[in-house]
Amino acid sequence: MTRPLLLVVTPFPQEALTPLLEHVEVVQWQSLSSPAAFCAQHGPDVRVLITNGMAGVPSLCREALSNLALIACNGVGYDAIDLGWADARGIRVTNTPDVLSADVADFAMALVLAAFRQVPAADRYVRENRWIRQGPFPLARRFWGSKVGIVGLGRIGHLIAKRVVAFDTQIGYTGRRRQEGVAYSYFPTVLALAAWADVLIVAIPGGADTRHLVSCAELKALGPQGVLVNIARGSVVHQSALIDCLESGQLGAAALDVFEEEPQVPESLLHSASTVLSPHIASATVQTRQAMAALVVDNILQHINGKCLISSVN
Ligand code: 8YV
Repeated sequence: MTRPLLLVVTPFPQEALTPLLEHVEVVQWQSLSSPAAFCAQHGPDVRVLITNGMAGVPSLCREALSNLALIACNGVGYDAIDLGWADARGIRVTNTPDVLSADVADFAMALVLAAFRQVPAADRYVRENRWIRQGPFPLARRFWGSKVGIVGLGRIGHLIAKRVVAFDTQIGYTGRRRQEGVAYSYFPTVLALAAWADVLIVAIPGGADTRHLVSCAELKALGPQGVLVNIARGSVVHQSALIDCLESGQLGAAALDVFEEEPQVPESLLHSASTVLSPHIASATVQTRQAMAALVVDNILQHINGKCLISSVN
């Protein structure tokens, strides 16, 4: 092998890699028959690695990647990438902010409306011929006019708020600090926000700092009519507390795109009549995934050409 290696750990559109092929040889982690043997033999040849914020760098190859210079994360969240480890080795890390924010905000709205208006259950009702056999579908709850609490008013949170405004709602948010020039009500804690809100939308980055930020007390404060929506990371919500609260009726409903142990989803959530579930697809549109891939590749090209990274996180 003459060119340096680019190790692609998580699914990535093959065609987007074309501009890199004159500079690197691409190795797909998923197609290695023996990842351990590859690491032992070629680990030092790997200069660039593509991953995402859930997979990070496989622990199996961490020590072998002695000349790794860049980790390009195909996602805005990079919680599974150990920045301390990367910094200590002089490894740069990039992510894909902004390009996915509007799609994620759209999908948050899809989940909010699906949960309030029972869209998936209504769809099943028609398909299972229950409309004919059982008559009208039970009444749902209205969303417009609700109090909407946003946990994390960052790039994505702001776009969620912008969409939510159109539904004649009141908006509250929590985050590290009150934001200058923002008219929405600020709540200093998730608990205070949950006690006020009808629906809590989680849009905060994952990681050690935010782990289980939404737990038993916050879910109970949201209450028996309250709706939890999570488009951020499964780790932010205490999943077993969520299950307990849904089962006991202390929380009304949950619409979840992310889970603690993806792709595993607990049976209780699968069988609950109070959940709307999706397989981590908030950013999954053709256009956004192309834009994310292009940003990953552009960052790698900048690195190869010795230029400034476009979106670095360290
Ligand atoms: C993607 C995400 O599903 O951006 C993130 O942090 O979780 C999602 O956009 C993921 O990164 C796909 O690689």
